[in-house]
Amino acid sequence: MQDTDIRNKFWAVGGGKGGVGKSIVTLMIGASLSKLGNKVILVDADLGGSNLHTLVGIRYPQYTLADFIGRKVETIDEVVINTPVDNMKIICGADDILGMANPKYAQKTRLLNHLKKLDADYIILDLGAGTSFTTVDFFLYAPNKIVVLTPQVTSIQNAYGFIKASLFRHLNDVFSKDEQAMELIRRAGSPAQGESIDSVGKLFDAFNALGEERREKLLNCIDELKVKLIVNMVKDAKEKNVSSIVKAVAKNYLGIALEDLGVVQFDNVLSASINNMADFLSNRRNSVAGTNFYDIASNIIKNCQKSAPPQPPVASVTPAAC
Ligand SMILES: Nc1ncnc2c1ncn2[C@@H]1O[C@H](COP(=O)(O)OP(=O)(O)O)[C@@H](O)[C@H]1O
Ligand SMILES: [Mg+2]
Repeated sequence: MQDTDIRNKFWAVGGGKGGVGKSIVTLMIGASLSKLGNKVILVDADLGGSNLHTLVGIRYPQYTLADFIGRKVETIDEVVINTPVDNMKIICGADDILGMANPKYAQKTRLLNHLKKLDADYIILDLGAGTSFTTVDFFLYAPNKIVVLTPQVTSIQNAYGFIKASLFRHLNDVFSKDEQAMELIRRAGSPAQGESIDSVGKLFDAFNALGEERREKLLNCIDELKVKLIVNMVKDAKEKNVSSIVKAVAKNYLGIALEDLGVVQFDNVLSASINNMADFLSNRRNSVAGTNFYDIASNIIKNCQKSAPPQPPVASVTPAAC
């Protein structure tokens, strides 16, 4: 398989906060991509609170991710099951197994290696709330990263916190054996009062002393966090712009240029259909949110055809507030 195929194929949907619509976004984008002629597999990677199968109308999944992680089956294909939507399959999550919310590193690596080989145009991981290592690791693994937020201030904070936690987890991983770099990363990650390295832009400047190669590595880490934002449950025109807040703070403190992937309006039809999403997908797709998701899926298809080179971050001048 070509690198570009893997790049385009994997998407993860995170956001830090529960109830913002991560599972709905996963489901609706998946259903829209399949409607547009793509083979889609949804993966419920919310290992502590899986419910994606319920949303697609499956009450008792025959197989779940637990069967694969617990080695009851040898290959991941065996836990991929059909949904009522043509061309869209699902790997159901499982939260009934002790320790499943925190699988070991080797279990995660095996899972991700198998997922890579699945026959699909798009594989979309629905992540849980919070910033546990497992959630953040799944997010980091996917070359395409979506963060869902709503206009609520707590959701905006959590979205930013989730992106920041992901960036620093990534930096800790990439530079783990480089003590000089790690010292600077630690200072930038949780700056104490009066700390001079209080943003990723300033961290980048501090990396000057460590040489070009390490600066390049840092730049690539930042570039990999070029997250795409979806603002969900928007009720009026001014709420559409909340992504600009996260974008400004992420640019200023993390040096990351976030992109807008789309806005989804609050939709009473969708909200009333939550117990029967299979019916919604067959008969009410042209509701407000249904149309928004269709537009987002079209953007994703277009997005996969272009990518921009990394840009160096600029040191922020204000003290770190986040
Ligand atoms: N665009 C929307 N319009 C109306 N209600 C929505 C919308 N998106 C999500 N919801 C509601 O929010 C609830 C939580 O969504 P869910 O996807 O389960 O959140 P998460 O996965 O982030 O915890 C859903 O049950 C649904 O009722
Ligand atoms: Mg969910």
